[in-house]
Amino acid sequence: MSDALAGLHIPEHVGIIMDGNGRWAKKRGLPRTIGHKYGAQNFRKVTRYISKCGVKVLTLYAFSTENWKRPPEEVSALMKLFKQNLIDLVTDFRDDDIKVRFIGDRSAFNKVLIDLINESEEVAKNREGMVLNIAMNYGSRDEILMAVRSLCRDVQQNGLDPESLTEKDIADRLYTAHQPDPDLIIRTGGEFRLSNFLLYQCAYSEFYSTETLWPDFNEEEFNKAVIEYNKRNRRFGGV
Ligand code: IPE
Ligand code: IPE
Ligand code: MG
Repeated sequence: MSDALAGLHIPEHVGIIMDGNGRWAKKRGLPRTIGHKYGAQNFRKVTRYISKCGVKVLTLYAFSTENWKRPPEEVSALMKLFKQNLIDLVTDFRDDDIKVRFIGDRSAFNKVLIDLINESEEVAKNREGMVLNIAMNYGSRDEILMAVRSLCRDVQQNGLDPESLTEKDIADRLYTAHQPDPDLIIRTGGEFRLSNFLLYQCAYSEFYSTETLWPDFNEEEFNKAVIEYNKRNRRFGGV
């Protein structure tokens, strides 16, 4: 961990909306897919650094349920990159003891990718370091819909009383079940929106947006976000 963070409160759960790969490439006169390639490389570096800072859970937004709308060439280049990165992930992060998990609807991917996703989770399942949630074909509304379906089934088939339901019953049916809510959400690329990321979990998260495009996001940028986070007064509705 850098000296810049000495004595600061490190957020337990950080979410990152890794945006701006396309613009990064365009600025350099390159195709958008090259931006994704550099973005993917950066993801490994940044993840390692964040784990060394003492963050317990890191959730990275890699592909949304809406990103299928992109031109087919871009979607297929992204799928290829995911595949390549997952092959490396099987052994990667071992020395850092990072536990890799995937959140989102993996059934939409092809069989090779699904197998790699399962395998990456399997090899990392006994690790005890930072939990890394990679959000792929993730959409918060889709996640909430899945939770609602599961609750309806329990009411219909298992005699669950709707009046007995609590907020925890919903949280326990989300992909992030039993994880702390995010403390800090970072978005690169300068936009101020969540784009369907962790809507239920973000009720009291602190939001930080930086103009820096994802392939340029680095240790110093992460430190800046944590320093800013330390200036926030989190009241959770109290005084
Ligand atoms: C984020 O970068 C990566 C994905 C959504 C897969 P973008 O591809 O959205 O980059 P911009 O926002 O167009 O620059
Ligand atoms: C959000 O970025 C999704 C990911 C970073 C994976 P988008 O580029 O898809 O978001 P919008 O379209 O600007 O809201
Ligand atoms: Mg974008």
